[in-house]
Amino acid sequence: MMKKIALITGANSGIGLATALDLVRTGVTVCLACRNMSKAEAARQQILQAVPTATVELYQLDLASFESIHQMVAAFKQNHKCLDVLINNAGIAPLNQQFTQNGFELQFGVNYLGAFLLTHLLLPLLEAAVPVSGEARIIHVASIAHMLGQLNEASFCGKTPYSPASAYAQSKLCNLMFNFALARRLPKGVTTQAFHPGGVDSEIWRDLPRLVYLLLRLFLISPERAGIMAVDLAVGSAHKGETGGYYSVQWPRPISRIARDIQKQDWLYDKSCELSGIDGIKAAMYQEMVLS
Ligand SMILES: NC(=O)c1ccc[n+]([C@@H]2O[C@H](COP(=O)([O-])OP(=O)(O)OC[C@H]3O[C@@H](n4cnc5c(N)ncnc54)[C@H](OP(=O)(O)O)[C@@H]3O)[C@@H](O)[C@H]2O)c1
Repeated sequence: MMKKIALITGANSGIGLATALDLVRTGVTVCLACRNMSKAEAARQQILQAVPTATVELYQLDLASFESIHQMVAAFKQNHKCLDVLINNAGIAPLNQQFTQNGFELQFGVNYLGAFLLTHLLLPLLEAAVPVSGEARIIHVASIAHMLGQLNEASFCGKTPYSPASAYAQSKLCNLMFNFALARRLPKGVTTQAFHPGGVDSEIWRDLPRLVYLLLRLFLISPERAGIMAVDLAVGSAHKGETGGYYSVQWPRPISRIARDIQKQDWLYDKSCELSGIDGIKAAMYQEMVLS
């Protein structure tokens, strides 16, 4: 039997690393797609120390650069013809406004648009896994923070006053809407799921004032707890064939009205294709799927 292959973005710390550590224990080959290769190598060593038989590959990926995303996919294609699991985990929450190499506000660009482009570029490999493994899965690490999110096109390129919380909430809303839009478009056998990992003690809080972080930390759970859900969604038999779901490590698990709005999902999908320079999945293909 061929080993399954999973690619996790931002896998050198927090939820991504905890997920990678758990996933290699299931016998899956894990590819860590990270922007900093020394951190990626340190993560690989940590995984190999815990699971010496693990197969771990490293790929350089900066989601703030379309060029880097294309290069990463090209490098991955040189080594693999298919991909069983893609976990869109990488995320960032800077307090000051920053931009991607392509001129997008950083949280929109990294947390969402980069993952959107990456998913589409890897889709042929996910599809290629279906005849071999019977399925392929895409997982998005979303957030309950999407509840506070609004879609504001002007903010995609930072043309509005910057609020870190609103920018983060918008990016997480986009993750969830992408999950729902994708579920209505994916070819047979490829599924998509999103989840809220809970409030997790990770590097994402690095920009917070120390005292605020220490107080917040009292309410945070470990990355390992979040990783368990990611692995379950990625390879668990209970989720086989399931698509378009939204899970949460912690309750409640509300879904905002905007996130559920199919017209807005489709608007965001088409807009994101335009912004990332791809065709996207044709509506005709979606119609065929629905009718068959
Ligand atoms: N922590 C929480 O309470 C919480 C709650 C809800 C959702 N989430 C989501 O969970 C996901 C994982 O976050 P975490 O909490 O585990 O935080 P984390 O420890 O900071 O991990 C984030 C990962 O994303 C990577 N990353 C950041 N910018 C990147 C870029 N431009 N290109 C590629 N990788 C990039 C980081 O790399 P570097 O190490 O190089 O920075 C790091 O590996 C995020 O999507 C976050 O929004 C977290």
